[in-house]
Formats: sequence, structure tokens, C-alpha cells
Amino acid sequence: MPHTKRNKQITDVVFVWDIALSVLATYLAFEIPYELITHHPPVNFLLTLNLFTSCVFIADIVIRFRQPSPQQIHAGHSRQIIAWDYLKSWFVPDLLAAVPFELFFMSVGNFGFAMLLCAFRLCKIFRVMSFQATWEFKIKLNNAVMRLIFFVYFLVLFMHWLALGWMKIQHMNSDPHLLHAYILALYWCTTTVTTIGYGDITPNKDKTIELVYTIFAQLTGAGSFGYIIANISTLLTNIDIVKTRHRERVDRVDNYMKSKKMPKDLVDRVHHYYHYLWSTRRGYDDAVVLSELPESFRYEFALFLNKNIIEKVPMFKDADPAMIKEILVYLKPCLFAPGDSICTHGDIGDEMFFINKGAVEVLSKDGRHVYATIKEGGFFGEIALLLKQPRNATIRAVGYCDLYSLNKASFDRVIADYPDFEQHIQTMVAERIKQQQH
Ligand code: CMP
Repeated sequence: MPHTKRNKQITDVVFVWDIALSVLATYLAFEIPYELITHHPPVNFLLTLNLFTSCVFIADIVIRFRQPSPQQIHAGHSRQIIAWDYLKSWFVPDLLAAVPFELFFMSVGNFGFAMLLCAFRLCKIFRVMSFQATWEFKIKLNNAVMRLIFFVYFLVLFMHWLALGWMKIQHMNSDPHLLHAYILALYWCTTTVTTIGYGDITPNKDKTIELVYTIFAQLTGAGSFGYIIANISTLLTNIDIVKTRHRERVDRVDNYMKSKKMPKDLVDRVHHYYHYLWSTRRGYDDAVVLSELPESFRYEFALFLNKNIIEKVPMFKDADPAMIKEILVYLKPCLFAPGDSICTHGDIGDEMFFINKGAVEVLSKDGRHVYATIKEGGFFGEIALLLKQPRNATIRAVGYCDLYSLNKASFDRVIADYPDFEQHIQTMVAERIKQQQH
């Protein structure tokens, strides 16, 4: 099996395993503090679940000693390095979270102490925090959405702990109606943390601990909500970042044209151009995207992006595959608006073009005579390159034209390497020149 495919399968299994761990860690993070505060021994079912959690956490330790993290998979670390890295980082918290303290201390009858030690088991929740970066990459959600989900998750957990703390200092933890007491504490927590503060449940002004606890809840609450609001606003801006950027680009050009009092006709053409750019390419400029990529990717991208031109240009259909591959890498996509002059008679030509979409007209020097119309799959601009002479006609875009250009240096290289290509171009040149002379 190819290495990358196997790595992907491993990463998928690790991802599912991490989710299972997170569910169990979340269960413990809710359950254990509740038991601690209320001094309620877990019922049999929960005790079994706690023990099951321990087993899974122990299995996790064994796995982590051998299993590389997603980053290590790609770095190709050895078994020893993986084990040593794990020992130095998560081993201790993972071990503390895995020990079934409740089983040991219950057997000697010291349940309170057992529950206190069980607090160590909350260490696993820090592990969930460490999954965030991997999950952001794995679940292809907007980063801001992911951050928000994680933040809300930890806020809910924090509110649960805060509510339990409030129960403790208000001595509500021995209330016969525990559930009601808990909901009341949670209600106080929500109104305080969200800074709503109805004032119906307030700290006793004579009790310092209650006042300090309330200040703590208010401060952390204000901070958390500020963070959530900031994230939501980033989220809204980022929801369609590409469209926002495109709009900003258009606005900038628009303002510029206004400030220079450009003629309405030109402004309209520019607007149309951007509209076309958005509807056909989502505002992306292939050349800019390619220039940002490392060399290896650029080659693969170019091959993929330019491959449809092969089917369109008859000259390429039966050509040498090696030549096609070479040309594909040299081709640069470019776009012209209706009426644009792509080549001007008498100019020095330093590139030729292949038509991917649209059509162009071949015009005489004065623009009055149309020699020919070249359509999808055709090419032009080769005469100047081959005969090393100025352009012998003007080329005008009929509608929007998606073209691929091949510069002179690349053209010369392909011609030198592939005589068939040169032969084909030469035949075409002779035909065109003859046609012009008639
Ligand atoms: P070049 O001279 O570089 O620039 C203008 C181009 O118009 C020219 O190359 C040819 O590719 C193209 N051209 C000139 N005459 C004709 C014709 N009769 N039919 C089609 N294309 C032509």
C-alpha cells in the first residue's frame, strides 16, 4: 500500500480514537466534580462507566507509546523517539487520568479521599485541548467556527465547575433537592458570567468568600464573552473571505476610476471584467496562486489546470506526450475583455497564444479588414516568434477570451526540442501569410 495512503488511514483511525477519548474525558469532567461536591457515591452503572473509562485511558497510554502523532507520521520518527516524546509530554497527565482511584480507595472504605484523587482524572480534558489543532485541519470547517466550538465547549465545562463551586460555598451541596440546587447555581452562574446579573441571587455581603467568588465569576465571564463576540465577528467577516476580498478589490479600482474621472464606458467595461472574473474564476488569479506555491506543487498545479487546453487544441492531440508536458508547464493563463487588442500590427511580439474560451478577430493594420476569426482551440501570435519579425496583424478579442500564453523563451525551447511542433507551426504560418496576401 502506498505510504501516504497508509498514513491517511492511520490518521483517520487516530481521529476517531481521539473523538472517543474526548467523549469519555468530557463525561469524567462533568461527573467527577459533581461527585466531589455532592459527596454522592456514583451509582453502580456510573462506577462501571468510570472503570471502563480507566481501561480505555490505559489502552490509550499503550497506544501512544507506539503510535506517532499526525505531525510525527509525516516526519517519519522512529519508535524510540515516539515513545520518548510521549514520556516527556503527555504520559504523566495520561497516567493520572487513567488510575481508577475510586476502586482502590472504596475497597479500603475511604470514599472521600478516593474522590479527591479522582480529580486527577480531569487531566484528560487538557488532552482534548491538544486535539484542537489537528481537528481544525481534519474537519474542513472554517477555523473561526472550530475555535468557537472549542471555546463554547470549555465555557460550558467552566460554568458547570463554577456552579458546583457556588453550590459548595452556599452549602447547597447537601440540599435534599440536589438537581434543583444545581440548576439554581447554574442560573446564578449564567446571569453572572453573561454579565446579565438580575440581582435575584446575590452573594452575602458579610461573607468574603462569596464576594471574592462572585468577582472571579464576573471577571472571567466578561473576558469569555468578549472573546466569543470577537470570534463571531471574525467569523462573519471570514464566512466568505474570497468574496469579501474580491469586493474590496473592485471597490478600490472603482474609487480610483472615480477619482480620475474616467469615462463611463471604460468604467462599465472594468465592471464587466471583474464580474466575469468572479463568475468564471471566483476572483482568483491562477498566476498569483501558482506563484505562491513551492516549485513541486506548481508543476502539478500547472499540469492539472492547463490540461483541458490539450483537448481543445487540435495540434496537441497527436503530439509527443513529452512535448505536451513541457508546454503545459510553460503556459500562463490570461484573460482579455471584449474589444481588447491582444496584439497590435507592427509591435514586437514576445509571446504566442492558445484560445481556451472565446474567439478573436485577425484585423488589418487599419482595422478595417477582418482576415479571419480564430475560435476555441486555435492559436495566434506565432508568426512574430518564428520569423522574428513584428506582428503582421492586429488581434482583437470578440467577447471575453480565456487564453494561454507561451513566451518567446519557452517557444524557442519547445521548437528546438520538438521538430514536429516547429513543422506544424511553419505550415500554419505559410498558410496564413498566403491568405493575407490574397
Ligand atoms: P503574429 O504576426 O505574431 O501576430 C498577429 C497574428 O495574427 C499572427 O502572428 C498570426 O498568428 C495571426 N494571423 C495573421 N494572419 C492570419 C490569417 N490570415 N488567419 C489567421 N491568423 C492570422
